[in-house]
Amino acid sequence: MTANKSFLPGQLWPDNNGVHINAHGGGVLFHNGVYYWFGEHKIEGEAGNAAHVGVHVYSSRDLYNWQDEGIALAVSDDSKSPITRGCILERPKVVFNSRTKKFVMWFHLEPKDVGYAGSLSGVAVADNVTGPFQLINAFRPNTGVWPLNVPDADKRELSAAELGGISGMDLNGGPRPWYPKQLLFRRDFAGGQMARDMTLFVDDDGSAYHIYSSEANGTLHISRLSDDYLSPAGKFIRVLPGRFNEAPAMLKFRGRYFLFTSDCTGWAPNPARLLTADTIFGNWEELGNPCLGPGVEITNTFISQSTFVLPVHGKADAFIFMADRWNPANAIDGRYVWLPVEFRHDVPTISWHDEWNLSFFDK
Ligand code: GAL
Repeated sequence: MTANKSFLPGQLWPDNNGVHINAHGGGVLFHNGVYYWFGEHKIEGEAGNAAHVGVHVYSSRDLYNWQDEGIALAVSDDSKSPITRGCILERPKVVFNSRTKKFVMWFHLEPKDVGYAGSLSGVAVADNVTGPFQLINAFRPNTGVWPLNVPDADKRELSAAELGGISGMDLNGGPRPWYPKQLLFRRDFAGGQMARDMTLFVDDDGSAYHIYSSEANGTLHISRLSDDYLSPAGKFIRVLPGRFNEAPAMLKFRGRYFLFTSDCTGWAPNPARLLTADTIFGNWEELGNPCLGPGVEITNTFISQSTFVLPVHGKADAFIFMADRWNPANAIDGRYVWLPVEFRHDVPTISWHDEWNLSFFDK
């Protein structure tokens, strides 16, 4: 096996066995000198868009060469389990809790055969970084909690008339002109907020946040986690209501927060977006498309969709934008688009590179 010496965005990426890495919609945890890449294990064909195996984990010291560490969280053979084989299990992210010494995984979970109507968050825990992770919860977050950034007048559950007004609405699939952008969080107050595309972010002070597309994908939520990272802490904000941001991936640069997101077009690529705020629960502002360069690709995030921002250990201001080039017809053949984040006037941007390596950050 020849060792990989660079990143080749969009190409097949062989692991230590020469097999294309199978960790889609993933994220990376750096722990004790080693990077661990967790992602959705996909199988061949359209069937691969659902979970038949679980969450795959790989390890690496150099970010180019990844060793297969097996399945960190396996789907269940028990048809009553929330993660029974054939459920939808997407965008897993793992963090380490230094107080409890546990590895904590959050993911977007759809119970089997409900399409995307469940909008649940799954939480799993392990003592060892590569697992096995055990599922401890599958639920809608922030039940009975009002967002921090809505007027007191909106902190009331929907009336029967308001509920009737939205009950038959088709909200699936993306921006809808009739999307009721101030109603869904009130509808879901009692039952918990919808949670689909997601990431986790651990801030410098150890506080962790669950960032998820909520309210039928129309509105992002940023939700503080409890000190053990196992549940919501009961504090969250709504970000850009009705703007339909998906695929959140967080970066902190010189004290400022940046969130890469996408538009909401299913597996099809679309233009990335960059959001920023000076505090995590602050006012989030949309800056536009962070992708630069000639050609049509920049308008579609180089034919990919964000999943995570990977801080490169030991290099200042070095971050890798991680994205997925989905292949829904043959899910296992989805590709990875990893590109270096380039700061222009202290704002992160992304340009295409056919091939690049970490010396990029030494410039
Ligand atoms: C995308 C989302 C993916 C997956 C897909 C299903 O918009 O980012 O994670 O849920 O839709 O169509």
